[in-house]
Amino acid sequence: MAIIGGGGGRAAFDPSAPTEAKNQLRTVARLLPYLWPAGRTDLKLRTFASMAILAAAKILNVFYVPFLYRDSVNQLSGVAQAVAVPVVLVLAYGASRIVVLTANEVRDGLFVSVAQNAIRSVALETFRHLHALALRFHLDRQTGGLSRVIDRGTKGIQFLLNFMLFNILPTLVELGMVVAVLATLFGFWFAVITLGSVLAYIGYTIAVTDWRVKFRRAMNSADSEATTKAVDSLLNYETVKYFGNEEHEARRFDESLARYQKAAVRSQVTLSYLNIGQTAVVNAGLAGVMLMAADGVVNGGMTVGDFVLVNTYLIQLYQPLNFLGMVYREIKQSLVDMEVMFDLLRVNTEIADKADAKALIVTDAAIEFDHVWFHYNEERTILKDVSFTVPAGHTVAIVGASGAGKSTISRILYRFYDVARGAVRIDGQDIRDVTQTTLRAAIGVVPQDTVLFNDTIGYNIRYGRPDATVAEIGEAARLASIDEFIRSLADGYETRVGERGLKLSGGEKQRVAIARTLLKDPPILLFDEATSSLDSHTEKEIQGSLRRVSANRTTLVIAHRLSTVVEADEIIVLDKGVIVERGKHRDLLSRNGRYAAMWAKQQEAALYEARLAEAVGA
Ligand SMILES: Nc1ncnc2c1ncn2[C@@H]1O[C@H](COP(=O)(O)OP(=O)(O)O)[C@@H](O)[C@H]1O
Ligand SMILES: [Mg+2]
Repeated sequence: MAIIGGGGGRAAFDPSAPTEAKNQLRTVARLLPYLWPAGRTDLKLRTFASMAILAAAKILNVFYVPFLYRDSVNQLSGVAQAVAVPVVLVLAYGASRIVVLTANEVRDGLFVSVAQNAIRSVALETFRHLHALALRFHLDRQTGGLSRVIDRGTKGIQFLLNFMLFNILPTLVELGMVVAVLATLFGFWFAVITLGSVLAYIGYTIAVTDWRVKFRRAMNSADSEATTKAVDSLLNYETVKYFGNEEHEARRFDESLARYQKAAVRSQVTLSYLNIGQTAVVNAGLAGVMLMAADGVVNGGMTVGDFVLVNTYLIQLYQPLNFLGMVYREIKQSLVDMEVMFDLLRVNTEIADKADAKALIVTDAAIEFDHVWFHYNEERTILKDVSFTVPAGHTVAIVGASGAGKSTISRILYRFYDVARGAVRIDGQDIRDVTQTTLRAAIGVVPQDTVLFNDTIGYNIRYGRPDATVAEIGEAARLASIDEFIRSLADGYETRVGERGLKLSGGEKQRVAIARTLLKDPPILLFDEATSSLDSHTEKEIQGSLRRVSANRTTLVIAHRLSTVVEADEIIVLDKGVIVERGKHRDLLSRNGRYAAMWAKQQEAALYEARLAEAVGA
């Protein structure tokens, strides 16, 4: 098992390796249950059958096939003078080779379900876990990188399972059997030279491969770097054009490509060193053993058939070793890839349900922010002592300059982040004490920036409630004032929206977002500048429907344009994370403070806009 351990083999060459070896063993151990999956008798049978077939084929291959060959040779080279064609022997030889090779294929066919089942389970577990991790984790990571981690990790599983079971393990067993046969038939030295040459081969391969690993690593990292850059650059297609930076992007991409090229060349050249050395070791061993066999034939004691037999054994042994360098390297790589993937599974999610988390029980859907303090990073406090309530069925608006912390309030209510101090409660229940699923089911969010799935408009609206009927989807679209637009499209609800919804305008996307939230039909609504990217005409239209749907629901409206919050039950003015004013529209105006100033400024702008429109129209 020294080779499989990988780390075990490596430890001999790298004194700093023992913890790495331990990690690798742990990674291999994580895979073992998948070979014998609980409750899957069918898969257990498959594992068992493929191992049995493997054993049978190996035995046939060591104890039977080579002897048929030897005996045929002996008959032909005839110590017996009358040379008869050894028909039976030759046919038996051919037939048993067919059996052995077919058995290998049958074995692979049987086992593939087991391997694929392992891959599916692990990939699914990782995917679920990624969704369970907090928003902060995802903002810090590159999504393209994450999907590659899963991709490589699952490939690693497949490789490891296949090669561990069907290449390395059986080769080692075969080595043992052949050495035993040689020792019994021809004596000690045949066994020693054979074993010695194979061990030298393995040792050389591992040493050189370990040395080469860094070039492969460099290749891989340059490869992911190039991919990440290319994806990011293409996602920012429009931005690249706005600044005429195609050349800049190409240069950045080419830097990674050049690094990849350099590493790839060194990797290929060192592979040749490996191959040359391997050939030398193998053939020296082969020549040595054959010299001894030739000597045995000349000096009696051995037949020509024996000479051929020895040769056959060695070739048979060396054959799977041909790929040893690749296999060893890939196994190590697989172990690393799998470790990275399993490490992801070990990342603790920052926002987790408490062990005794209960379902949120919504009675009135009243929201309470109780002396909330919050920061994304220690150095900078975003919300300072924010307190307010949204009584059942009421609408509270939060207004303030960009960067004041308005969206942060919505993220906290949705529990993408936990507060640093204070508490947020819904109907008296601290949102940290209830399950995230029930909390989020109770809140409908129309975010500031809507991102859509690369699918049809219909799919994106239905996302609000997957079991909604076509009629309900149409009704939601009508309420969000987008039904008419969708119908005007050639493909209607089947129109595809493009990656991230880029084929729709900001206003259209936002209306799709409103429609799907209406479909979700939650007791609490959260609009984060939900109408900010609509023109004032459409905004008025949607304001009407928003007002209708929020009439008897608890609603938190975050707005930049004050004209949209005039009717709120309470308006909260937020400035740099502090509530500086609060009250109804009229009260705030008469107070002549911050709100009044903002209002005056926006009225002026609106007036100017209206005059401009008039002038253009005239
Ligand atoms: N994930 C984040 N990590 C660190 N800082 C953030 C993060 N998200 C927002 N901020 C910062 O928090 C402040 C408030 O942001 P936000 O609540 O989005 O403001 P707005 O009132 O415009 O909605 C901003 O200064 C912003 O830069
Ligand atoms: Mg915002």
